[in-house]
Amino acid sequence: MPATVVVGSQWGDEGKGRVVDLLAADADIVVRYQGGNNAGHTVWIGEEKFAVHLVPTGVLRGKLSVLGGGMVIDLDVLLQEEEELSSRGIEVKSNIRISENAHLILPYHKLIEEQEEKRRGKQAIGTTLRGIGPAYEDKAARRGLRVGDLRDRQSLTDRLHDAIAFKNELLKKVYTARGVDPDKVYHDLVTLHDHFADNICDTSLIVQEALDAKKNVLFEGAHGTLLDIDWGTYPYVTSSNPLSGEVTAGAGIPPKLIDRIIGAAKAYTSRVGAGPFPTAVDETTAEKMREPGGEFGSTTGRARGIGWFDAMVVRKSVRLNGIEELAITHLDVLDQFDEIPVCVGYQCGGREVAHFPNQITDLARCEPVYETLPGWKSDTSQAKSFSDLPDNARRYVERIGELAGAPVTYVLVGREREQSIIR
Ligand code: IMP
Repeated sequence: MPATVVVGSQWGDEGKGRVVDLLAADADIVVRYQGGNNAGHTVWIGEEKFAVHLVPTGVLRGKLSVLGGGMVIDLDVLLQEEEELSSRGIEVKSNIRISENAHLILPYHKLIEEQEEKRRGKQAIGTTLRGIGPAYEDKAARRGLRVGDLRDRQSLTDRLHDAIAFKNELLKKVYTARGVDPDKVYHDLVTLHDHFADNICDTSLIVQEALDAKKNVLFEGAHGTLLDIDWGTYPYVTSSNPLSGEVTAGAGIPPKLIDRIIGAAKAYTSRVGAGPFPTAVDETTAEKMREPGGEFGSTTGRARGIGWFDAMVVRKSVRLNGIEELAITHLDVLDQFDEIPVCVGYQCGGREVAHFPNQITDLARCEPVYETLPGWKSDTSQAKSFSDLPDNARRYVERIGELAGAPVTYVLVGREREQSIIR
């Protein structure tokens, strides 16, 4: 392995949790490098469903799990996640390391986001309301508080009071909403810090030392390439960089240490939140896929929009991330169809578009051009090897890999760990 990155190559929810869990069996360390608890990685262990939001998926395999410096962390949510997983027999506390450089999500971030989404009205982004955007805003504005800032209590008091004075003005005067109580925020933070103090450190040292020792380190991307703040469908994006390139800044390692980049992609497409979605199917078809695909947000529970596989999207991801292999998930959801359209290109104003557009207004005008592939109308969920799949399913997988520009090395055909085909 040594340094392997798993990135989402669509709009998030590609089943990265399943892919990371599969690869984590051979990993020594699993590292999250960006985002926060807007992510939701679902893994089924037998009949039990686990959804992790902040803690890297590696904890489910008992692996050392790092919350990297590029993340934004709500310590209260982390504690809840620890308690919930521990109560179900998963050891979290001794297995996690939290970067002192990661920024904190504080109560006012969530309040501001709620108000801001309301203010946007029809132009709302449809965020997860976890305070992600406002926390990254403060990071970029250099007024954020980092996990490491919790140690020096005097400095924490001063900085927190200063930050809250400003945020309360904003909440009360601009949004006419209620503010937060600085003493309560301070007290809660200090209690959380006391709990996690032994887990907080310079995580980039841990990761680099592991790589120097030729250990297997797995970098767990969150969200997806099309939600990248720079290269996604701006402004309908998240506030961080899910791209593989962010591993270096978010985990604190040089680019030359990355060996392998795997893109996770659904055999079709799904999308939550607002923004254009060229291959969206009609609601009747979406309904047929939602139940077998479990297409409800693992963080918010929202029903996801569903579309056919869009090779324009995944091709862009292959290019931007340097994806050399694809893990195709949810193939079994397509078992029911006679024919399966695959988007091979876009037409905009009667002209063919060579690449996925960067401007949202251009994307909104794009019409998908489809190639229709024959379905296989049989159960793929029991396939143990690629040759077990029906001919048309194999052709489908090969074709989407070819269109996206990367070979498919993993095919997942169900939610269970065993329903994984490794080529
Ligand atoms: P935020 O990340 O909460 O600011 O939300 C911004 C956009 O990204 C919204 O459309 C969310 O639905 C979407 N989003 C954020 N995280 C995920 C994810 O893990 N999966 C799918 N969509 C996500």
